[in-house]
Amino acid sequence: MSGYRSRGFRPETDFAMDQSAPDILREESIPRNSAAATTLHVCVTCRAGENGDTGPRPGRRLYDALIDAQHRQDHPPSFRIIEVECLSNCDRGCSVALSGPGRWTYVYGDLDRNCVDDVITGAERYAATSDGLVPWRERPTIFRKGVIARIPPSI
Ligand code: FES
Repeated sequence: MSGYRSRGFRPETDFAMDQSAPDILREESIPRNSAAATTLHVCVTCRAGENGDTGPRPGRRLYDALIDAQHRQDHPPSFRIIEVECLSNCDRGCSVALSGPGRWTYVYGDLDRNCVDDVITGAERYAATSDGLVPWRERPTIFRKGVIARIPPSI
């Protein structure tokens, strides 16, 4: 069992917010063709209003759907997809974050499996920029409506 459970436990979510490290990732989701790969972090612990743990959580289902969609593409991925436990946006999950070297970071919420194609499109447009700033009209609607935060690049 991970050490984060001993530092704090939230019975309603079964994880400790902001205390877990992204120690789980799928190597096969990381593109090898880009030295400056951007990253789409997907919260796999989001419940998106669902109760119980009888099956995979909505966040996990979104992550799996994104991985499947990226693998079905007929071109190499321009960003990597990494699962993470909690992006501190639990009330508006499912949640993802886009980040990359020299780029603004964006956190998005209110997502579900129906958003997969738009998330892929938005992440590709983000990856095509040098600074993460995709023109407003080129952002998928789900990114325009679901943006939670944007964080400037570190210097
Ligand atoms: S569980 Fe907190 S953002 Fe997903």
